[in-house]
Amino acid sequence: MSSENSKNAFDLLNQKKEEAKLGGGQKRIDSQHKKGKLTARERINFLLDEGSFEEVGELMKHRSKNFGLDKQQYYGDGVVVGYGKVNGRLIYVYSQDFTVLGGSLAEAHGEKICRIMDLAMQNGAPVIGLNDSGGARIQEGVVSLAAYADIFYRNTRASGVIPQISAIMGPCAGGAVYSPALTDFVCMVQNTSYMFVTGPNVVKTVTHEEVTSEELGGADSHASKSGVTHFAYANEIECIEGIKRLLSYIPQNCEDSPTKLVYRTPETEVREVLNKIVPKNPNQPYDIREVVDGIVDEDSFYEVHKDYAANIVVGFSRIGGRSVGIVANQPSVLAGVLDINASKKGARFVRFCDCFNIPLLVLVDVPGFLPGTDQEWNAIITNGAKLLYAFSEATVPRISVITRKAYGGAYDVMNSKHIGADMNFAWPNAEIAVMGAKGAAEIIFKKEIKEADDSDAKLKEMEQEYANLFANPYRAASRGYVDEVIKPEQTRQKLIRAYEMLENKVVNLPKKKHGNIPL
Ligand code: HXC
Repeated sequence: MSSENSKNAFDLLNQKKEEAKLGGGQKRIDSQHKKGKLTARERINFLLDEGSFEEVGELMKHRSKNFGLDKQQYYGDGVVVGYGKVNGRLIYVYSQDFTVLGGSLAEAHGEKICRIMDLAMQNGAPVIGLNDSGGARIQEGVVSLAAYADIFYRNTRASGVIPQISAIMGPCAGGAVYSPALTDFVCMVQNTSYMFVTGPNVVKTVTHEEVTSEELGGADSHASKSGVTHFAYANEIECIEGIKRLLSYIPQNCEDSPTKLVYRTPETEVREVLNKIVPKNPNQPYDIREVVDGIVDEDSFYEVHKDYAANIVVGFSRIGGRSVGIVANQPSVLAGVLDINASKKGARFVRFCDCFNIPLLVLVDVPGFLPGTDQEWNAIITNGAKLLYAFSEATVPRISVITRKAYGGAYDVMNSKHIGADMNFAWPNAEIAVMGAKGAAEIIFKKEIKEADDSDAKLKEMEQEYANLFANPYRAASRGYVDEVIKPEQTRQKLIRAYEMLENKVVNLPKKKHGNIPL
């Protein structure tokens, strides 16, 4: 090729690349910025290590001629896909470009997403999806629906093999919501993103409810009411930073282990602050997050599903440099009782950790399951069983610390030794029994209390008797259900050693196709 020819060829290439970079054009980019949103490429630049992005299929276009689409050809077809590094680790990413036909998804757009999902599966690395789309491209008809289904299928195949994280950074409506829902974590941005199966207009027609997009499917609604999103961020930059932090706790794939940070054992790991958190009065609440912070490496706790089912706290953290998933009853909300939403939240988190070899730490202070018709008729039985099932099938290292109450069925469910916990510690004031002393005395000494001259005094006496027998950790310790009763200040040291001891744990599950979790 002559130098003149190659100059022309290079010019043509540069021209095409320049055009591709502009997506739907400067006017639409400006409009995107005016809405407080970044463009697809800007988002990728914030997510990935500088200069690490390699784009795939930059010059792909749609092939449709329907409804004038042949005159609306844009390089990339409304999605930027490729791979790069986040803190040095390989990541696959797709980022929908709202400036091209509203980021709508059809044949070529879908093929690009599927391509990087296939590469991610073959090479064992996470997929991050940055969603900003008007949904199925209406002009391409059923082809658009097929393209979605191709992605759903891959999301499901990839589940438990590679981590999948979805960020919603604009509209996400109709069946489009199901790809994020099939992934491991959904992140949303307040005021600029929404997710719903049917929008406010359809809602108004069908149910006569007046509701805004933000109320119906905004970040706060999904973070607190539905639990669809795990994280709600104030803006896109915070959202992307959050994704990077999330990635730091999790491995590349199901055969990999989370990165262990270098950790130098200090002379002492005594954390005296832990001795002062649980109040003497067993009915007084306290914030379990203080216990978490007292145990883990400094500032390492990253809470998941923070605003949903706050009676259980879940999140990632580090103990001695090692990544752990924490599940903890929260005595400051509904006394830490287990209900439907808490059970679902806990179960999903436990299953994620188990998929990706993240050891579990379970902090137990639970008075039982929440009573009532609302709970029973909405299937606390089936939903509570989810948490029970999730713990029972988990094969990662699992350690429990009973900080105070462990009552009734909830004692069994919250990672007891009986369902496969590896180590179970209890603090000296722990109460492990079928129920609280008062309730127990009222049932088993009903006759004696009724016949006593002073029923109140008799009840108190019987209550004390039951409490003396069971409102402590020593009955359980004598059976080996509790491995060791420890002072709170020793907890961190014990955990560091126990996780180290369990590092090479191997459990072989019975041969099966897959289990049948009570959905
Ligand atoms: C084709 C679309 C589109 C779509 C938006 N656009 N959605 N093109 N198919 N689904 C185009 C617009 O024509 C416009 O083109 C550009 O994108 C920006 O859209 P605007 O309406 O100007 O933007 P905005 O006011 O911000 O409103 C965004 C929006 C709205 C709320 C998303 O566009 C909208 O309601 N779109 C339709 C949404 C929808 O019904 N989708 C199908 C859902 S069902 P120009 O050329 O003017 O820039 C579905 C099923 C999936 O997705 C099933 C999977 C199983």
